[in-house]
Amino acid sequence: MSDDSQVYISELSRHEGGHVTMRGWLHHRRSGGKLQFLVFRDGSGFMQAVVSKSDVSEEMWELTKSLTQESSIALRGEVRKDDRAPGGYELTVAEVQLYQLATDFPITPKDHGVNFLLDHRHLWLRSKRQHAILRIRNEVIRAARNFLDEQGFVGCDTPIFTPNACEGTTTLFETNYFDDKAFLSQSGQLYNEAIAMAMGKTYCFGPTFRAEKSKTRRHLIEFWMLEPEVAFHELDDTIALAEGLISAIIASVLERRRTELEVLERDVSKLESVRAPFHRMTYEQASAKLSEKNTEFVPGGDFGAADETALAEELDRPLIVTHYPANIKAFYMQPDPEREDLALCVDILAPEGYGEIVGGGQRIHDPELLERRLAEHDLPKDAFQWYLDLRQFGSVPHSGFGMGIERLVSWICKLDHLREAIPFPRMLNRLTP
Ligand code: 4AD
Ligand code: MG
Repeated sequence: MSDDSQVYISELSRHEGGHVTMRGWLHHRRSGGKLQFLVFRDGSGFMQAVVSKSDVSEEMWELTKSLTQESSIALRGEVRKDDRAPGGYELTVAEVQLYQLATDFPITPKDHGVNFLLDHRHLWLRSKRQHAILRIRNEVIRAARNFLDEQGFVGCDTPIFTPNACEGTTTLFETNYFDDKAFLSQSGQLYNEAIAMAMGKTYCFGPTFRAEKSKTRRHLIEFWMLEPEVAFHELDDTIALAEGLISAIIASVLERRRTELEVLERDVSKLESVRAPFHRMTYEQASAKLSEKNTEFVPGGDFGAADETALAEELDRPLIVTHYPANIKAFYMQPDPEREDLALCVDILAPEGYGEIVGGGQRIHDPELLERRLAEHDLPKDAFQWYLDLRQFGSVPHSGFGMGIERLVSWICKLDHLREAIPFPRMLNRLTP
């Protein structure tokens, strides 16, 4: 069978009536007298293949009956259209070849506890559900890059090792850097700002690290962030960009990942209503709303997970919140010229209780103000000298934001916890596998 080129499940519609070779893993086998029903997967999807005792040799029939969950196999047969079959096609098998018989695959169709599944994450990834989530994650990333590339953004990458704290010093991961110390990047933003002054419109996409001691379903220690940054953009421009980006991603997932959303039993009407313009309010309006709702919110402080949920839970599209108090936000936030105590910043909260998916805003472009803020935040001027330089040589207003990929994927897939939105989650108490 090895000289045939392999056909994937996702391509079957092009091979109706054809004789093909497929390779993959057995997901499930059911016996029906003189028939064996093999549900198998090849990475591109799941399908059913039927082996009939009368079509194959005695030896091959015995082999088929011995196949266990996750055994690796090649199947040769005819592609038949069958409207009752998931995916619409079935394979009538003429030949079965075994690569390896798997014994005692630990993840069986019965229910397993989440810790057991996380311990076996390297194998759990093979399940229908995890497969669907990861394909949606990939579509989110593809659609996001596509949206930005088409608008003339230049994707540039920012370093992981850095001497700078971007998002406060409490969540920094420190590591040795030969005889020096370095931090793992919390955000590519500061470097993005330098790149924006070279490229105009840029974005970075990469892993970011936060030593978050909070053990919530919305926090990972290592997560992936997409961060656009644009020279001459002000707060409203960056908000419009974020709205456009999120709407385009959702539209793309709805168009290209229907099957996966069905596997997850996602109510797609909740995604279909996501269109720009999103709902919008200021921090002060949001605070007033929270006092009505009697959450534990303390006015002047940052919103907690429960507050974010209370604000956006019932909405049909995300909620944009702007103008937070400057003193609860990062050092680089441009103050509102009419209210110096407020920052020209934006958080976007997802509906259905998923909380913040985007954080960003307009950056300080005035050198003296930036220097003052660094001092107020006790950040070392030396390490930030290069960043201050950007305000010396043709400084301009500029803005950008970061979008957490796992937060977005969790919401789109309606997951209970961010841990399923990334192949190998890094959490407070988990570094393996
Ligand atoms: O709001 P954050 O901290 O903003 C920044 O890092 C800015 N420097 C980004 C920028 O302006 N270029 O983080 C941005 C987003 C959040 O809205 C959230 O979606 C996600 O990153 N995020 C996390 N996702 C998973 N686990 C965590 N611990 C996260 N912390 C932030
Ligand atoms: Mg934030």
